[in-house]
Amino acid sequence: MSSLVVVGAQWGDEAKGKVVDLLAQEAAMVVRYAGGSNAGHTVMAGDLLLKLHLIPSGILNPETTCIISDGVVLDPGVVCEEIEALQARRISTEKLFISGNAHVVLPYHKELDRLEEERKGLGKIGTTMQGVGPAYADKARRCGIRVNDLVDADRLRRRLDAVLPDKNFLIEKLYGAPRLNEEAIYAEYRRYGEFLRPFVGEVGSLVSAAAANGRRVVFEGAQGTMLDIDYGTYPYVTSSHPVAGGACLGTGVGPHALDTILGVAKAYTTRVGEGGFPTEQTNAVGDLIRERDQEYGTTTGRPRRVGWLDVVALRYAVRVNGLDALALTLLDVLSTLPEVKICVAYRHEERRVTELPGDPEAFGRVTPEYETIPGWDEDITRLRDFAQLPENARRYVRRVEELCGIPVALVSIGKRRSETLILRPDLLGRG
Ligand code: IMP
Repeated sequence: MSSLVVVGAQWGDEAKGKVVDLLAQEAAMVVRYAGGSNAGHTVMAGDLLLKLHLIPSGILNPETTCIISDGVVLDPGVVCEEIEALQARRISTEKLFISGNAHVVLPYHKELDRLEEERKGLGKIGTTMQGVGPAYADKARRCGIRVNDLVDADRLRRRLDAVLPDKNFLIEKLYGAPRLNEEAIYAEYRRYGEFLRPFVGEVGSLVSAAAANGRRVVFEGAQGTMLDIDYGTYPYVTSSHPVAGGACLGTGVGPHALDTILGVAKAYTTRVGEGGFPTEQTNAVGDLIRERDQEYGTTTGRPRRVGWLDVVALRYAVRVNGLDALALTLLDVLSTLPEVKICVAYRHEERRVTELPGDPEAFGRVTPEYETIPGWDEDITRLRDFAQLPENARRYVRRVEELCGIPVALVSIGKRRSETLILRPDLLGRG
């Protein structure tokens, strides 16, 4: 088994960063394939907590090549800051490569993200305001600016000349906001272009060659299945393809290059932004979990909405991603709760359903049906073996496996690499 896709099985924030960092120790390459600086991946380097938005979570391993591939929308200001911060901590960025074909987030994308959300009022999506949606929209409209344009002074000028007047027209005439100044954008983005030039190139052939030579490639997803533009809870979704298939679309490798698909799911559920959330707990349990794990957005600082584990949604993630196994994270956060609940079915229009409704609109109207498992009192973060977990915690994990129909390959019980219980090393390429 050479390549592995790490995909968010819920609404993002599943602690994929920790899982990728762990798997990157044995990988030749980590490829971030979708999303932009809306993502916030947290990894721990010794006692140092790193929050990355764009740079792959494998960067702490000096031997691992890290790639930002074509499917990402790149905010060059954010990536420059991340590179500088890593270099200041003496973390090598020598093996970082950025696809010249990735699309660039420009100031008008952020401005339009904000203005569109404001104009929608109560109907807003609750975006991260990082300009991600408008940047993907420009890609689809075929008026995007790509990293290859950014690193070339003439091309950047030509592209801005072509695109900015339309954007300013919208900003000024539709939204009544002040127009953006081309010279200021050009000067700022030229600086980024110069800084980033050494990192930029064609990356698809690097990834294909590594996969073809049987080298270990980890494809790092961002956001989660339920935020996928096609397969998520539209319109309350992001504008990219977080699902496993996005690894092919975003990198330019064929489906045969993907060997194992690992879905990362929290032992409970969180969601940021608007949209349906059947198992949401707007009560003391929700508050307790939020405070215990500091469930606030890495990118925006917004409090995350918190709820019980929803296996109806998880089974859907198993299907649309073709998941081989799960990484169940943050199990420690549930410790000391008197009981834990798993949503096993929904009530929808007087019927009991065990599948997600085909129309995402209906998703906001279903009510959950729970199974209850007694909780456990012990702090579990210091345990190093699955067999040492309290019986009820083990029961919980085994029940999730049963309900989802796939094995749990690892359980994360803390932020550090050592706070991980590996149940199926064979499925993680560690056999
Ligand atoms: P956008 O991706 O900024 O356009 O936001 C669209 C929706 O996706 C909003 O509900 C965001 O809160 C959500 N979202 C985007 N990125 C993340 C993430 O990394 N974690 C969790 N939610 C996210």
